[in-house]
Amino acid sequence: MLEKNISRVLIDEEVIKNRIDVLADKIIEHYNGEEFTIVALMKGALVFTADLFRRMPVELEIELLNVRSYQGAVSTGNLEFLDSQLPQVKNKNVLLLDDILDTGLTLHKVSEKMHELGAKSVQSCVLLSKAKQREQYKKADFEGFVIGDEFVVGYGLDYQGKYRNLPYIGVFSGE
Ligand code: IMP
Ligand code: MG
Repeated sequence: MLEKNISRVLIDEEVIKNRIDVLADKIIEHYNGEEFTIVALMKGALVFTADLFRRMPVELEIELLNVRSYQGAVSTGNLEFLDSQLPQVKNKNVLLLDDILDTGLTLHKVSEKMHELGAKSVQSCVLLSKAKQREQYKKADFEGFVIGDEFVVGYGLDYQGKYRNLPYIGVFSGE
C-alpha cells in the first residue's frame, strides 16, 4: 500500500484546496488583466498546476518544462533541462509553478533561463516552501505553505518517481 511509508498527513486535501483559491486570487490581482504564460515544472508541479490554473478564469497560456535536480531524497546540486526544445517565452510574462522550494537551485536556474530566452517578466509560485536559509532564491513570489525541513510526498511530489498520486501532502518515513 502507498500509505504505509507515510508517517503523518501534513496538509490534507481540503486545506490545499482552500489555499489554492487564495493563491489564484492573488495571482490574478497581481497581473491585473495583463496576459501571462504559466511555465509548470514537471513532474512535481503537475497536480498543483492542474488545480491552480482551473481557478484562474483569465486568458493565459501554459507550457511544461521538464527539469531534474533530485535523486531520491537529496538534491544533486545540479539542474538538468530534460526537454529538446524550451518554451518560447520571448516578451511574455512568465509565471513559474513548482511543487516545492527547497535549496532554491531549481527556481534560480529556471528564472535565469527564462530571462535568457527573453521573458518580459518572471514571477514564481510554489505550493510549498521549506523553512530554511537559502543563498539563492530566498522566497517565491507566491507561496502556498511554509513547511519544516522534512521530506514530503504526495499531491505531485515524489520519492523516486512514486507517491505523486496521493491526494494530500504527507511526511515520508522512508521505504
Ligand atoms: P530545489 O531546487 O532544491 O529548490 O528543489 C526543488 C525540487 O526538488 C522540487 O521541484 C522537487 O522536485 C524536489 N524536492 C525538494 N524537496 C522535496 C521533498 O520534500 N519532497 C519531494 N521532492 C522534493
Ligand atoms: Mg520537482
